[in-house]
Amino acid sequence: MNEQVSKISANDRKLNYFPLGDRGKTVQVLAPATVANLVCGFDVLGMCLNEPNDLMEIKLLDEKKIVIISADGYPLPLDPALNTAGAPLVEMINELPDNIGFEVTIHKKIKPGSGIGSSAASAAGAVVGANYLLNDFFSKPDLVRFAMFGEKVASGVKHADNIAPGIYGGITLIRSIHPLDIVPISSPQLFVTIVHPQIEVRTSDARQILRKEVLLKDAIKQWGNIAGLVAGFIQNDLALIGRSLEDVIIEPVRSILIPGFDEVKLKCKVTGALGGGISGSGPSIFMLSKDKKTAIEVETVMKEIYNKIGLAYHTYVTTINQTGVKIVIG
Ligand code: HSE
Repeated sequence: MNEQVSKISANDRKLNYFPLGDRGKTVQVLAPATVANLVCGFDVLGMCLNEPNDLMEIKLLDEKKIVIISADGYPLPLDPALNTAGAPLVEMINELPDNIGFEVTIHKKIKPGSGIGSSAASAAGAVVGANYLLNDFFSKPDLVRFAMFGEKVASGVKHADNIAPGIYGGITLIRSIHPLDIVPISSPQLFVTIVHPQIEVRTSDARQILRKEVLLKDAIKQWGNIAGLVAGFIQNDLALIGRSLEDVIIEPVRSILIPGFDEVKLKCKVTGALGGGISGSGPSIFMLSKDKKTAIEVETVMKEIYNKIGLAYHTYVTTINQTGVKIVIG
């Protein structure tokens, strides 16, 4: 087992269990949007954003059950096993004594199917909030392990490139999920512009259309870019970040689902963005910029393009969230 993952077995946890409760019975968290893949790092790189966030309230229950409440009437599945916040908590309470459960109220602000980590926000917010009420009983890798069950509900497969940055904050490399091996990557404080054209792309569909095999020449380009991007972040080398934001494997297939994609990418770079591409599985597109002025100019370009196409959209200008899920009232 990887050393990051807790070595305490479920039974030991029950035996070594200590009284809970000195942090109260409820907590409110802000669960952030995230950008998975970061263009070239399909399933292995992700970045946490300061905006937008879901607001969630988590309440400790004294019986073994999970209750899901959609506060704003958003049609979320209320069966915990089918809910992206519920499934991780079902896994969590199976490693706790029998008299512990949670009620989760979700104010959904990050639209499902947007490509900015809606399902991961619910999953990460739920496990971080629940763990706060458990006096941080579980480690961060444990929380990622639980939260990935939410991604399985949402897309059919476990991946951690939204979950890990949501829980750790900043930019994370998920070197492996079996065993779990998460590497936080330091970065300059960049500005992020997002445009979310109002169409829904289901992650499961966007995964299904991908080719299952990759040419060696494409793989060589891709791993050169991943290494270049990580080195660029760590060394604060903006030019290296910019030229490494290239994806020769996934983007050519998925970009056809996003109206205006090529024009957005080209014009935003001409405007001064370092680079960018599809956020997660889309349809949102993200661009990185070195300063706020450029990020706002990039937003204007995105708006002009979608106004011209006649497709409704939302935009966000934000920064990298270095802390992940935030406890707002505890
Ligand atoms: N890495 C995943 C994908 C992220 O691109 O399918 C989904 O948000």
